Amino acid sequence: MWGGRFAAGPDAIMEAINASIGFDKRLAKQDIDGSRAHAAMLAAQGILTDSDAEAIREGLLTVLSEIEGGTFQFSTALEDIHMNVESRLKEIVGEPAGRLHTARSRNDQVATDFKLWVREQMDAAIAGLTALMQALIGQAEAGADWVMPGFTHLQTAQPVTWGHHMMAYVEMFARDRSRFEDARKRMNECPLGAAALAGTSFPIDRHATATALGFDRPSANSLDAVSDRDFALEYLSTATICAMHLSRFAEELVIWSSAQFRFVTLSDRFSTGSSIMPQKKNPDAAELIRAKIGRILGANVALLTVMKGLPLAYSKDMQEDKEQVFDAADNLALALAAMEGMVRDMTANVANLEAAAGSGFSTATDLADWLVRVLDMPFRDAHHVTGALVKLAEDKGCDLPDLSLDDMHSVNGQITADVYQVLGVHNSVASRMSYGGTAPAQVRAQITRWKETLA
Ligand code: ARG
Repeated sequence: MWGGRFAAGPDAIMEAINASIGFDKRLAKQDIDGSRAHAAMLAAQGILTDSDAEAIREGLLTVLSEIEGGTFQFSTALEDIHMNVESRLKEIVGEPAGRLHTARSRNDQVATDFKLWVREQMDAAIAGLTALMQALIGQAEAGADWVMPGFTHLQTAQPVTWGHHMMAYVEMFARDRSRFEDARKRMNECPLGAAALAGTSFPIDRHATATALGFDRPSANSLDAVSDRDFALEYLSTATICAMHLSRFAEELVIWSSAQFRFVTLSDRFSTGSSIMPQKKNPDAAELIRAKIGRILGANVALLTVMKGLPLAYSKDMQEDKEQVFDAADNLALALAAMEGMVRDMTANVANLEAAAGSGFSTATDLADWLVRVLDMPFRDAHHVTGALVKLAEDKGCDLPDLSLDDMHSVNGQITADVYQVLGVHNSVASRMSYGGTAPAQVRAQITRWKETLA
């Protein structure tokens, strides 16, 4: 492609370090879409004849079908997807192929191709997150009033509802979704026509190519257009936060499915066995989802590190962007789909959840609140009295509702039998009616809001 200037071909090592075709072949569809839009625009502007543009556009479809059909011969000597496609186009349509690269460069070409690819991944992540949110809402609806322990420091804190816990993840994944939507809006400017870095002397129509490729507008500065990889970095940082959320939830599923907890049973479809221990059913999908943050954050750090210190405009360093993003996107898609499947298939063990919800003095706060509300005690004193009652129950080896009224009176003589009402876990959760609280009625309101938003 640049034989004019060179007397010798590249060293084999040079070819090996330089070539990107091994991975950027994944941009074939986007490359051909971009070239077809470019050719149509060149013809509309009178820069190419209609017949040349038609030959190019048809020939590109043939190239695409060869690539998709698996018959295309990729060549490392041709470096990357752009030159592989153009070279094959030359074989198919002859001379007009050489006119396609008028008024563009591989720098704006690769930025455009990669943006189109990343944009698709943003859409895929948004769809994957929506499906996962729907699966969580399904679980929340089924168990809006199932009680379970709520934890702080992974110590029993207060009873909560299963639906409330599921809807907490809906909030997290909704924020991830809105980050992807936000990044997608910001990235949707077309670099094509920035050419190598300075724009072009041909009378191109950048608005036309931008529109043809589904962008909102052409990017405004040609130097920025070819050197910007913020869209990939925003994809990766958003994916990293999402993978962190997935990892937290996966960790809970690993804990919840253990023999010690038995809060949930994961389906056979998302579990594996052990080759040596016949009794085992392992939560491998959850564990792998928990781990995916490693490579996704790794990709984020890698690309940030590649980009730091790069002077304007394009540098070949930027070729190192693709594998990171490809790997992160493949693994995020897999993790989202696996989590969605696991959530849809898992069974909550309602009786175990309820038993655990009532143990560990989980209604101690309800007792303290009762002392404040009914006996008009200052909260600090109520906290102290409740602490003494917890200590008493602990010494007796029972839970708070198992203390007799006489036991209670040994700590405070004014307590009445009414107190037992607030010590029950169902009453406890039902009382938490503050906006966003765990009461089943509040959880149902959350579910209704989200179902309306997602409809
Ligand atoms: N394969 C290259 C990349 O991915 C395409 C752009 C090459 N541009 C250049 N001036 N050598 O970045």
